[in-house]
Amino acid sequence: MAVAIVVGAARGIGAAVAVRLAEQGWDLALGDVCEDDAELAYPLGSSTELEGVAVKCRNSGITVGVAKCDVRVLSEMEALTAQARTLGEVHAVVYVAGVLGGSGLAWEVDDATFERDLDVNFRGLVNAARATVPTLLSNAPNSRFVAVLSASSHSGLPLLSSYAASKHAAAGYLHSLAIDLAAHGVTVNGVSPGSTDTRLLQATAAVYDLKNVSEFAEQQRIGRLLDPAEIASAVSWLVSPEASGVTGSVVRVDGIFTG
Ligand SMILES: NC(=O)c1ccc[n+]([C@@H]2O[C@H](COP(=O)([O-])OP(=O)(O)OC[C@H]3O[C@@H](n4cnc5c(N)ncnc54)[C@H](O)[C@@H]3O)[C@@H](O)[C@H]2O)c1
Repeated sequence: MAVAIVVGAARGIGAAVAVRLAEQGWDLALGDVCEDDAELAYPLGSSTELEGVAVKCRNSGITVGVAKCDVRVLSEMEALTAQARTLGEVHAVVYVAGVLGGSGLAWEVDDATFERDLDVNFRGLVNAARATVPTLLSNAPNSRFVAVLSASSHSGLPLLSSYAASKHAAAGYLHSLAIDLAAHGVTVNGVSPGSTDTRLLQATAAVYDLKNVSEFAEQQRIGRLLDPAEIASAVSWLVSPEASGVTGSVVRVDGIFTG
């Protein structure tokens, strides 16, 4: 079976994507930073969580490799790609890693906060493309690159300008990547979630002094939070043969986000 790389796979949406792709028979190379960042207001995924996701995926009878991989470091993305190649032909890359770098009024946010958001949400995506596209090209046609963007790739957010800016940058880069790869048998698409029940949403709730993430339900016209599995469904379709004609698109899994 073909191999998919999922980076940012230790928990939340990335973990849901890994489990869904495993159910569909993909062999997997799973990466995550597996280390907290002292500058962030919340913990990141851990090695234990990543191993737990791998165990769940192996229950589907597929092969799984795991690696500690910081997307901010190109050589670590390249090492994850090299590991994936030892499992078989890599036909899909799913970029899920993301952070909430910090908050503040848009005109007061400092450079360090902008760098934290840009480093993971935008530059990490660029590193992922640099590291994996040569492999996807060598296995084209039917190669897929999918990135998890955000409802805030398409609108602003109160107190989270650097996060929204980094997600806009990611969307612009992704669409350009799709154009550059269009004639080469590699499709490139984004999935933009609305408020999804994960650890990152808890960190977002803290920004607004909300007691519970459920208070974000009203941000969606469907009146509830999204489940990570619902985001994974869109990703799994985009990496499937059925989505061969879809590139340069963004699937909004946001229950009609109202901000
Ligand atoms: N939860 C939401 O409401 C929501 C909404 C829109 C978009 N998103 C996006 O979905 C993606 C997944 O987020 P989530 O909600 O599952 O959050 P999460 O914090 O649970 O998961 C993010 C994962 O990315 C990993 N990660 C962070 N920095 C990394 C790095 N430098 N290298 C490798 N891995 C790194 C973390 O360790 C963690 O396992 C993110 O890109 C996020 O911006 C989330």
